[in-house]
Amino acid sequence: MPAAVRIVEVGPRDGLQNEKIDIGTAHKIELINRLSNTGLRSIEAAAFVSPKWVPQMADASDVMAGITRAPGIRYPVLVPNEAGYARALAAGATEVAVFTAASETFNLKNTNAGIDESLARFAPILERAKQDGIQVRGYVSTVLGCPYQGDVPLRDVVRVATALHAMGCYEISLGDTIGIGTPAKARAMLSAVASEVPMAALAIHFHDTWGQALANVLACLEEGVTVVDAAVSGAGGCPYAKGASGNVASEDVVYMLHGLGIHTGIDLPKLADTGRWLARLLGRETGSKAGKAMAA
Ligand code: HMG
Ligand code: MG
Repeated sequence: MPAAVRIVEVGPRDGLQNEKIDIGTAHKIELINRLSNTGLRSIEAAAFVSPKWVPQMADASDVMAGITRAPGIRYPVLVPNEAGYARALAAGATEVAVFTAASETFNLKNTNAGIDESLARFAPILERAKQDGIQVRGYVSTVLGCPYQGDVPLRDVVRVATALHAMGCYEISLGDTIGIGTPAKARAMLSAVASEVPMAALAIHFHDTWGQALANVLACLEEGVTVVDAAVSGAGGCPYAKGASGNVASEDVVYMLHGLGIHTGIDLPKLADTGRWLARLLGRETGSKAGKAMAA
């Protein structure tokens, strides 16, 4: 087990992108500012994707302009192409995340590009980012199954993760987009990728559709991963992965990590408060069991 874990909080992006209600820019800014006050060191703040594809992220520039950036916190944003990179840079982003998948069909549905075409789109972004001093994270989706193709061969996951790392992504986040994986499969997938990409450059990103996310996180911690993506109150879902539900809840991950004696630097009561605040805003109960238990 690692001594310390960094949580990448994806609530403001993955957590909100699939919401149909108009959340409002001020609330998105308040969410990020609240999260900045919990000890988190990475907060994915927005996505500079096409507003036609994901309307909820249309105000990404205003969100970036409105937040109070705390020293020592990274605020990565998603970019799908050079146009998104230019918007992100103009909005003052200092870290971006490119995203592709291990499954061809999912990537076509999500970005209107095949896997290799998306990698080709990222090449000039990574070149520019190097010159601009911008750090780039990379996502691989559908690492444990695809909503359109079903099983995804491990070699495809390894190939795409390796390509992103070779292009210069400092960290590769392995996404179980539809939350279908189970612990032994998650562990085997991570281990296969780690045979080509250093474990220190890998992160895990589990959705909880089948209730396996926390178990999968534990299995991957045992395998040696030290970076875990999660969303406060268990918000989340990808609009182009039908049936996918929220991310593993940040509060639940932090509660488990602290119980294992693993350092996160996060103030759990403050994080849980933020999760309940977000759930109220979205008009539902928090999706975090720990968040609910702490309020009882
Ligand atoms: P396209 O339609 O092929 O793009 O979409 P296009 O270049 O033909 O442009 C179409 C229109 O969009 C044009 O506007 C462009 O200007 C505009 P028009 O001329 O029609 O008025 N446009 C943009 N506007 C703003 N920002 C941009 C941008 N790019 C084009 N960056 C595209 C291709 C990649 C743009 C589109 O498919 C897209 O935006 N996809 C993003 C989908 C998405 O955000 N999905 C969710 C995030 S991924 C995820 O959730 C998984 C993850 O969590 C990990 C996991 O769970 O597995 C990361
Ligand atoms: Mg996701």
